[in-house]
Amino acid sequence: MSTPEQTEASGRLPAHPAVPPRLARFYDKLRAPGYGGDYNPEQWGPQVHDEDIRLMREAGVSLVTLGIFGWARSEPVPGEYDFGWLDGHMDRLAGAGIAVSLATMTASPPPWLPERHPETLPVLQDGTTLYPGSRQHWCPSSPVYREHATRLVAELARHYADHPALALWHIGNEFGCHISRHCHCPVSTEAFRRWLRERYGTVDALNDAWSTDFWSQRYTGFEQILTPRTAPSFRNPIQQLDYQRFCSDELLACYLAEREVLDRITPGTPVTTNFVPVAKTLDLFSWAPHLDVVSYDSYPDPHDASAFQRTAFSYDVMRGLRGGQPWLLLEQAPSAVNWRRRNGRKPSGRMRLDSWQAVAHGADAVLFFQWRASRGGAEKFHSAMVPHGGPDTRIHREVAALGAELAGHADLLGSVPARAEVALLLDWPNWWALELDAHPADLDMLGTALAHHKPFHDASVATDVVPVTADLAPYKLLVVPNLYSVSTAAAARLAAYVHGGGTLVMSFFSGITDEHDRVHLGGYPAPFRELLGVRVEEFDPGADGSWAEVIHLEGAEAVESFDSGGPSVTRHSHGAGTAWYLGTRPRPAAMRELMDRVRAEAGVGPVLPDLPEGTYARTRVTADGTPVHVLLTEATGEVAVRRG
Ligand code: GLA
Repeated sequence: MSTPEQTEASGRLPAHPAVPPRLARFYDKLRAPGYGGDYNPEQWGPQVHDEDIRLMREAGVSLVTLGIFGWARSEPVPGEYDFGWLDGHMDRLAGAGIAVSLATMTASPPPWLPERHPETLPVLQDGTTLYPGSRQHWCPSSPVYREHATRLVAELARHYADHPALALWHIGNEFGCHISRHCHCPVSTEAFRRWLRERYGTVDALNDAWSTDFWSQRYTGFEQILTPRTAPSFRNPIQQLDYQRFCSDELLACYLAEREVLDRITPGTPVTTNFVPVAKTLDLFSWAPHLDVVSYDSYPDPHDASAFQRTAFSYDVMRGLRGGQPWLLLEQAPSAVNWRRRNGRKPSGRMRLDSWQAVAHGADAVLFFQWRASRGGAEKFHSAMVPHGGPDTRIHREVAALGAELAGHADLLGSVPARAEVALLLDWPNWWALELDAHPADLDMLGTALAHHKPFHDASVATDVVPVTADLAPYKLLVVPNLYSVSTAAAARLAAYVHGGGTLVMSFFSGITDEHDRVHLGGYPAPFRELLGVRVEEFDPGADGSWAEVIHLEGAEAVESFDSGGPSVTRHSHGAGTAWYLGTRPRPAAMRELMDRVRAEAGVGPVLPDLPEGTYARTRVTADGTPVHVLLTEATGEVAVRRG
């Protein structure tokens, strides 16, 4: 971390002690929250490069991501590395005092790799090969891809290890964002078998866990097992679930292979990778310990009225991944994207509001895709910090104004988000299991999580998003949406939390199966019956998307009932705490009313008292203990920052 002298000279506070020392190289290069974007100078000539640096300085840019799609230029011929195209940019940026998050360039291999090694191309479940011509056309299990990628990373790391611009390594790009994340080629199939051997040891153990006596699926050898490919009817659920786990692990192995090289050659430089908008693909709680700082790409849809709360939820997830450590917003759009069917622009002020929303939730950097709008290529209609129209444009003026504004809040850099009183539980394997086919109805983990987050967000109550393994003791209230698949041990931890005095709200279709997607017998939801004081006999999803359950009270009181009579919402004292159960999916107004009551009983209040409805606040705490409150009003775009 900064020495006291450096800190004094720069006029900013040191990072909060909760920020890991491994991030020193990053924080020491910044004076306020990092500001900038993806910089792709290879698309332009020298005149533009000179203008870039001038405009960046004028716009308060302090951090850029460089080289994401630089593999083809850096290794034009297999084994021959040439970073000449990049050296000048690194030097110019260092000269301008702009720090670099340097990409490892492995997101998109050059055309010669699939030409020489077509076996590195990913294959879909129906056998379709994904060809080059776009990006991310590599099989996550391919040893050939990994070998070429790590060799490039080693050359790059040696070349730039001591470069003054280097602040952070950015591995790959958005792991798992395209359909190439699920590969079914022969190499992936073999890797899946190896992964299963390690997990189960024997084929008999696998048969047992996969319930293969159903539909005559018993295996007599691992070599018979395939990835879940296109099949006549429902595929084996645990085969699908294990495959999801395997895919997340395989991509993590690619990341770790690069990380290992970087740690060996540049041990003092922190490492990150940018996660895609909260998605089902990767088990982010298993990834996060391997990042020094979490990074995120946020693309709220300007046409979506719920985008603001959706984004708040995703920022709560990012903050939660490393237990409340500040994180980096590495990409957002200054205005429109170009990859939706209809791409709305952000009206004036919205980009500023969105950026402050990230800072309020713990972001220590606000970056965009991208610095300058491309002239050609697939993303030329994506907005950028410098639009096609140049600097004399609304978007660029707003970009420059925000750069100046953030530079004035030096104390926010390295401040940590205040811990919330409410925790919302999210578990990726449960997400995968919940959304398997052949269930009583289509279920939507993200939709349910958002519906449970909204009443707190709208009331300006902060929520932390936590894994099943989290220390729950500090929280007054734990919200558990649709925890369908849960181990007996994890269920016992939740019960112990309530027994010790916590308040828990659990929603329908929870506690149904174990980690092998086998039903917990003994009456639904068997591992939670004692905790909740109820037994669920039947599920009754309506044709209109509603959810109902036939609930028997076993000690709980009915707080609300279905029109047909039975209880829909229950409340049960368990030890020193209280457990609520929602056997239904309440509409937003009813959900708000219910959660207001639950949190009033649990003694949970808003971040600041007396905030008008529609304004929400989040607090960060600086190294000297000063709370900094950021207040956001979506309807008017107002942002206020209050200290103390
Ligand atoms: C992603 C990618 C970028 C770019 C943007 C466009 O976040 O990481 O390379 O494609 O989307 O929105």
